[in-house]
Amino acid sequence: MVGSANALPGSRAQFERLLAGGAPLDAAIEVCKVAEADPDDTSVGLGGIPNEDGVVQLDAACMDGRTHNSGAVAAIENILHPIEVARLVMERTDHCQIFGVGAYRFAREHGHPHTELLTDSTRALWLRWKENLSDQDDRLPPPPKSETPKSAPSKGEPPKTGFVPTRFERHGTIHCSVLALDGEVACATSTSGLGFKIPGRVGDSAIVGAGLYCDAEAGSAGSTGRGEASILACASAMIVEQLRGGSSPKDAGLEILRRIAKQTERQARWQPALLGPDGRPAFDIQFYIVGLDGRFAGVTLHGRGQGRFAVAEPAAGPRLEPLEPFFT
Ligand code: GLY
Repeated sequence: MVGSANALPGSRAQFERLLAGGAPLDAAIEVCKVAEADPDDTSVGLGGIPNEDGVVQLDAACMDGRTHNSGAVAAIENILHPIEVARLVMERTDHCQIFGVGAYRFAREHGHPHTELLTDSTRALWLRWKENLSDQDDRLPPPPKSETPKSAPSKGEPPKTGFVPTRFERHGTIHCSVLALDGEVACATSTSGLGFKIPGRVGDSAIVGAGLYCDAEAGSAGSTGRGEASILACASAMIVEQLRGGSSPKDAGLEILRRIAKQTERQARWQPALLGPDGRPAFDIQFYIVGLDGRFAGVTLHGRGQGRFAVAEPAAGPRLEPLEPFFT
């Protein structure tokens, strides 16, 4: 099992079941469900950062190498486990993806309860973001607790209290790719997507070939981070294609990161903010990859921070390993 760092708790719970003969798709989906139900994970499901209207909209997809079938939901609201609905799309329809209100109605038809996914802390985060968006509207950040300000706080300054993530810090997701002992592969990805996104925005997590992909003849891959970059590179499908051609998971992941860095230079001709002062992409993106021979990798565009990924293999159970950076 290989996936994002937030896949570790679910991997711990699923690993023995997988070793006992569990299906790889069941394992990947159950791993995602742990993060979806965790109100402290602001990148997935309950407690995910909402869109610009303050509404949590979720994307999720799964793919089963045994049947080469996939299912996805996009911009679904008020459903705790979108990854289960993605599986229902795969198994109970002839479609690959259902979007928005249609996805919600489909989930309700299958018995998923209506659930409020905004928590007190993500509602407060959204309010801070909204209050600090513009100095031209009538919203104000809260006054300091200790004294009443003599004049209204300036809207042009950073927020006085609380953290508001910058544009490129609002990505997060859970991905899990699984290779079972019998050689079958499956994968699943779930996310609340880009924080404060435009309502209806769909990221890579709901797009098979971008945020996840597996092939019974090659392996499995998935991503976290800036979904637009993953979509524009058809990233996960391209990684799996390289595995098919004989590349190692690490080389396949680093090659996609190289392409993303080059593609971003071209995109920056019309959107300069995509590049930082060092000329490198201002955002980050990660890939989690497993080949049919059991080799695996977790790679990231930037080496900054303490990036880790979750892995579980028979030789040494579930644990975190450092991500391999493209830019060191
Ligand atoms: N990778 C998650 C997203 O961009 O929505």
